[in-house]
Amino acid sequence: MLPDDIFLKIVRSAVKAPSGHNSQPWLFAKEDDGICIKPDFSRTLPVADPGHRELFISLGCVAETAMIAAAFYGYRPALQINTLNPDGSIKILLQKDATIEQPALFSYLTARQTTRNLYDKKVIPAEDLMSLKQATSESGVGVRFFSGASELRRFSPYIAEANAIQMSNPSFKSELIGWIRFSEKEAKQKGDGLFSACIGFPSVRRMLGCFVLKNIVTAKSGEKRLLKQLEATSVLALFTSQSINKEYWIKTGMVFQRFGLTATMLNLNYSHLNSPCQVSEIGKKMINELGLHSEFPQLIIRLGYSKKMPFAFRRNVYHSINH
Ligand SMILES: Cc1cc2nc3c(=O)[nH]c(=O)nc-3n(C[C@H](O)[C@H](O)[C@H](O)COP(=O)(O)O)c2cc1C
Repeated sequence: MLPDDIFLKIVRSAVKAPSGHNSQPWLFAKEDDGICIKPDFSRTLPVADPGHRELFISLGCVAETAMIAAAFYGYRPALQINTLNPDGSIKILLQKDATIEQPALFSYLTARQTTRNLYDKKVIPAEDLMSLKQATSESGVGVRFFSGASELRRFSPYIAEANAIQMSNPSFKSELIGWIRFSEKEAKQKGDGLFSACIGFPSVRRMLGCFVLKNIVTAKSGEKRLLKQLEATSVLALFTSQSINKEYWIKTGMVFQRFGLTATMLNLNYSHLNSPCQVSEIGKKMINELGLHSEFPQLIIRLGYSKKMPFAFRRNVYHSINH
């Protein structure tokens, strides 16, 4: 039986995982033989993520983090992913094991962040890319690296087109604005969402922030920012999955979290240029034009060196527990 204090320690560590819009769409429950992680469907993104693809990727990220934390606290985790429950909940069996190795990635759980500033384009050593490749090897999920101006430029039209589709949709913009926390006070109080300082937006009153985002931040200005980020990227990582269903989205999230923690260990920063994976017609174009064949694009991640930015907040841990 998992002691209450260990369960709480594992959950406290796990919720440091990333999630779309920092929505933290997960609920933990302690069970006799381990932990169950359920999707929290009250925290979905109906416009940005209508099929819950990113919700399940986020669930994979939190499951991977929970397993790393469990190992750190002396419990051997075993994930029951092949017998996923119909609602997509994940069961992690835990067994006390005095011989378990301390997971090297545990110390990077709090240092990892999504860093959205410009990177300095410095070349990433081949051995570090190899470490990232090794950390992310998993059947059914692929990670391809792209580097150099001409390879990176192949992604510009997809990013520009997908961004234009999203930003010209008033419902997409309203949903996004609803998740932005315009001041540190608001971000801390809510403990979720996109804290303005993490996305390079000044701290302002909500009314002013909403006005600026609705009327001044346009598809064109968004595109300019994203393409500038692409241009300053050292390496782009494209995550693909072999199938499009809950199981493979969860697997993608697990691989992605190992990638993020390994990048952090290597002093690398990362952030998302995901919009082409979020707009299905652009995703299909990528499959054909990049020769992905039977692989489905899930995440586009830029990597590079830069200073850290402010960290995103998390909700009170008790809000993530199913009582
Ligand atoms: C599935 C998924 C999709 C995401 N998509 C984006 C994105 O399109 N753009 C972006 O800037 N961040 C994206 N993020 C990053 C989240 O916004 C970020 O994880 C969250 O705000 C918490 O911040 P942290 O990663 O620094 O802890 C995504 C994260 C996940 C897990």
